[in-house]
This record gives sequence, C-alpha cells and structure tokens, in this order.
Amino acid sequence: MSAAIRRLRSGDAASFKAIRLEALRANPELLRSTFELEDRLDVTWFGSRLENAHIMGAFRDDELVGTAGFAIQEGRPNAHKGRLFGMYVRPASRNLGIGRLLLNAVLDAARENVELVQLSVVRDNQPARHLYESVGFRDYGVETKASKYDDRYYDEELMVLDFGLPDFLSTHR
Ligand SMILES: CC(C)(COP(=O)(O)OP(=O)(O)OC[C@H]1O[C@@H](n2cnc3c(N)ncnc32)[C@H](O)[C@@H]1OP(=O)(O)O)[C@@H](O)C(=O)NCCC(=O)NCCS
Repeated sequence: MSAAIRRLRSGDAASFKAIRLEALRANPELLRSTFELEDRLDVTWFGSRLENAHIMGAFRDDELVGTAGFAIQEGRPNAHKGRLFGMYVRPASRNLGIGRLLLNAVLDAARENVELVQLSVVRDNQPARHLYESVGFRDYGVETKASKYDDRYYDEELMVLDFGLPDFLSTHR
C-alpha cells in the first residue's frame, strides 16, 4: 500500500485535531481520552503537541489517514524510556499495512532517542496487540481497571520493546 509517512508539525494541527476527534468519537477507550476533553482544546494546543512530541502521519492523496506518536518520558531517571501513543488508522484505510508503516516510522525515530519504548493497550484490542507483538513488543504486566467509561472498566496490557534485546533485533523488519 502506498502511503506517504512524515512527521506532523504545527502546520498540520487542524487535520491532526480532526483525526483525533474522529478517533475519540468512535472508541475513546482505545486512546484513554475523551471527545469532550479534546474538542474544547484550541488548534494551537494541538500544534504545540506536534512540536513537543514526535508524531508521524500517514497520507493517502494528501489526506491524513493515520497517526502514531512517541515522546521521551519526563525527568532524568526516565529519559531513557519512550512512550508510544495515539496509534490510529481511519477505518477505510485499515488492513492495508498503514499501521505497520506508521509504527516502524515511529520506532525508527524512537531508536535514535531512547533505549526502550513502553505502551499500554486495551487487553481485548487484538488488531493493535498483534501489530505490536509482530515488531517485538512484549507484555510486562496488566493494569486492571485502567480506565472506566460509564459503567464499564477496561484492563490494559503493558508492553515494552527494548532496543537492546536480541529478540527485537531479530524480529524488527
Ligand atoms: C490498530 C490499528 C492502528 C492497525 O492499523 P492497520 O493499518 O489496520 O494495521 P496494518 O494494516 O498495518 O496491520 C498490521 C497487522 O495487524 C493485523 N490485523 C489487522 N486487523 C486485525 C484484526 N482485526 N485482528 C487481528 N489482526 C489484525 C494485520 O493482519 C497485520 O498483521 P500481518 O501483517 O501479520 O497480517 C487500527 O486497527 C486502528 O486504528 N484501530 C483503532 C485504534 C487503536 O486501536 N489504536 C491502538 C491504541 S493502543
């Protein structure tokens, strides 16, 4: 599948906000946020987010169809770790390999900056877990009742990819 992958910058803030809101309207629990919270944030807030984190976008015919982000964790004792977040591909562009392209692009950037990357993923989110495992992420724990939407709780699998471990070196790519 041909999709152009590039880093999103502050000039992409409007389309980044739009795709975030689309994702949050559909499945807020998968991104552990809410439509209501982010809808009221100004576009300039999203622009700052794009400059402060490393967020990749996938484009088909100039339309932003997917995102994946990575940030170095805050504080000196944590700065060897990155966090992966905001993985989303628009429904019409799924199962075409775009999620994998985005993930590999984010990991390429992460490898230059940190020693390992952590993420959390809703336990029954099979598409995402399959994708993460296929590039070398491994489970290291579970956060039970990680989030609550109305009366429903969601458990999250905690996953890590350690760039220094041999299983990463052999499974990536
Ligand atoms: C997770 C997500 C980003 C994957 O994007 P995508 O572009 O469809 O992924 P790809 O096409 O690159 O597929 C990657 C792998 O996942 C697999 N996959 C896709 N859908 C799947 C499904 N329903 N069940 C199991 N595996 C699935 C693909 O088969 C592929 O593996 P393969 O190469 O071994 O065949 C997308 O489903 C999505 O946006 N989901 C909603 C948001 C979300 O869950 N984000 C993750 C938050 S942690």
